[in-house]
Amino acid sequence: MAMRFTDDFIDRLRDSNDIESVISSYIELRRRGRNLVGLCPFHNEKTPSFTVYPETASYYCFGCGAGGDVIGFIRNIENLDYVEAVKFLADRAGIKMPDANYDDTTANLRRRIYEANREAARFFHETLFTEQGKAQLEYLQRRNVSPKMIKHFGLGAAPDDWHALENHLTAKGFKRSELIAANLLRYSEKNGKKYFYDAFRAKVMYPVIDLRGNVVAFGGRVLDNSKPKYINTSDTLVYKKSNELFALNFAKNGNDRKIILCEGYMDVIALHGAGFENAVAGLGTALTPEQVSLISRYADEVALCYDSDEAGQKAVRAALALFSKTGVRAKVIRLSGGKDPDEIIRVHGKEMFAKLLNSADNDTEYKLSVLREKYVVETADGKMNFLREASKYLATTDALERDIYAMKLADELQVSKDAILNQIKDAARKERYNKSKTQLSEAQKQVQNIEKAIDPQRLKNMRIAKAEDTILITLLNNAGFYKSLKDKLQSDLFFTPVNKQLFSVISSRIEGGERVDISHLSQFLTNEETSAVAKLLANQSLVSNTMQECEDCIIVLQEEQKKRLVQNPSQMSDDSFLELFSSLNKDV
Ligand code: CTP
Ligand code: MN
Repeated sequence: MAMRFTDDFIDRLRDSNDIESVISSYIELRRRGRNLVGLCPFHNEKTPSFTVYPETASYYCFGCGAGGDVIGFIRNIENLDYVEAVKFLADRAGIKMPDANYDDTTANLRRRIYEANREAARFFHETLFTEQGKAQLEYLQRRNVSPKMIKHFGLGAAPDDWHALENHLTAKGFKRSELIAANLLRYSEKNGKKYFYDAFRAKVMYPVIDLRGNVVAFGGRVLDNSKPKYINTSDTLVYKKSNELFALNFAKNGNDRKIILCEGYMDVIALHGAGFENAVAGLGTALTPEQVSLISRYADEVALCYDSDEAGQKAVRAALALFSKTGVRAKVIRLSGGKDPDEIIRVHGKEMFAKLLNSADNDTEYKLSVLREKYVVETADGKMNFLREASKYLATTDALERDIYAMKLADELQVSKDAILNQIKDAARKERYNKSKTQLSEAQKQVQNIEKAIDPQRLKNMRIAKAEDTILITLLNNAGFYKSLKDKLQSDLFFTPVNKQLFSVISSRIEGGERVDISHLSQFLTNEETSAVAKLLANQSLVSNTMQECEDCIIVLQEEQKKRLVQNPSQMSDDSFLELFSSLNKDV
C-alpha cells in the first residue's frame, strides 16, 4: 500500500457505514445485551457465535476466530483487498474517495478482468448465431435447450480457432497480460518465446455469473465425447470456484428460501427451463463448506439432486454431513427413470421432476433407508441391529420426528412403538452425556487450531500471551497509560509474534499522537492481526484495565524474557545482553 488513508477519512467512512447495518445486510443479527449475535458467515454453525460490538465498531466470532472492523468485514465477505473494501464502503455511503496515489494495481486488474470476461461472454454469445458457432448451436438444440434459456444464461460458442477471442479482445484494447490474468488466454513457451492461444476453442460456453452480476468465469463443454468433457476457468483474482455456485445469481431471488442443488450446468439449465428457477450447481469440485455457507444465506431448505450412481450417492452423504452443521434442512431427491435431472425432464417431463421433488426424502428418511440397506431386517438379528442404529440416529432428532419415525418403524418391522421410543431415549441419554463431554473441548479445539495456525507460539506460551493481551487492551482503552509505562515497555518484551506486531503498530501510533481504534489500526494490519485486535476487544470485559494490573503483567513478561535469554543468549541484542548481564550480577 503506497499511501495510507487519513484518520479523518477513515472516521467518516466508519461513521457513515454503521457496522450493525452493514453486517445486517449479509446475515441476520439478534440483539443480545449491548451487542448483536448471528450465525457466522465465515464458518458453518448452528448456534450463533458471531458477535457484533457496536461500541467498538468491531465484530468477533468465538467459533472460528474471525474478527475485525467494518472494513475488514467487507474485505472478508466480498473477498476484496483493503483499498477495494474502502472503495466499496465509500460507494455504499456516497463518500468521495480521496484522490491520492494509494496502490490500486490489484483493484484495476480486477476491474479489467471483469470487463474482459463481460466482453468475452458477449463475443461467445454472438458467435453462437454465426457460421463459427453453428455446431455449438446445433448441439444445444439437440439437447433441447430453448432459445429463451440460451438467452437467459447467455450461453455461447467458442469458435474452433486458436486466436479468435484474443484478436477480438486485443482489438478492444485489452492487454494480453489482462487476458492471461482472466484465464481467457494461455501460452506455452518454446526457445524463450511465448506462444499465446485461446483457452476455449470449439466449445459450448456457459458463463458463470456472481451475485453482483459480474461474469467471473466460464465452463466450456466439448461437442463430442472427447475428454476432458469440460474446460473451466481456473481460479483468478475475481473467481474462486470453491466459493461460487452456478446460477445462484438467479436462484437467490424469490426462491421461498428453498434451493435445489444439482451437479451440472446442463441440469441447472434444464431445471430453470422447466420452471425450477431455484436450481444451482457446484462448479466441478466437491461441495465445499463455503458453498454450503453461501446457500445457508439464501435458503432454509436444500434439495440435493445428485446422480443416482455410486459417486453421486457418496456426494450426497458428504453434502448431508456439511449441511447438518448448519440450520439448513437437507432433503435428498431420489432420481429414478433417468440418471440426472436433465434426462428426467427430457424423457419424463417436468411433472415427473416435481413429483420426485415433492416426495424427496428428508435427511432422516434418507439416513434410515441407507441404514436399512446395511441390514437384513427379515432376520431377528438384522432387525435388532438396524433398530439399534436407527435409534442412535433418531436420538439426534426432535420429539416430533422421533414419534413419527418410531411409529413408522414399529409398523414396518412389527415391533412395539414404545420399545423403539425407549431405545431412542437410552441412546439420547448416552448421546447427551458424550456430547457434553466433547462439545466444550471440540469448540475449544477448533478455536485453538485456528490460533495455532495463525500464531503457533501463542498456545505454547499462554501465560505470556495473556499478559501481553492485558497490556495491549489496556493501551487500546487508555492510550494515556502509555506515557507512564513507556520506559518499561520495549517491543522485545513481547514474545508472541502477533502481539509483538500489534504492540509495535499501537505504540508507534500512540507516540505519533494518533488514535488506536480498530478502524484506524486495521489498515496497518493483516487479516489475522485485525482478528486478534477484534478478539482483544471482544474479551475486554475480562480485563480490569488498571495501571497496576498492567505493571504486574510487565513484570511477568520481564521475568519470562530473562528466562528466555538465559536459555538462549545468542538471541539477545547487545543492549539487552548488557542489561541482563548486570541484573544477573546483581542477583548473585
Ligand atoms: N465437470 C468438470 N469437468 C469435467 C467433468 C465435469 O468441470 N471433466 C463439472 C461440470 O461443472 C459439470 C459437472 O461437473 O457440469 C457435472 O459433470 P457431468 O454430470 O459429467 O456433466 P453434465 O453437466 O451433466 O454434462 P452433460 O450432461 O453435458 O454430459
Ligand atoms: Mn448431464
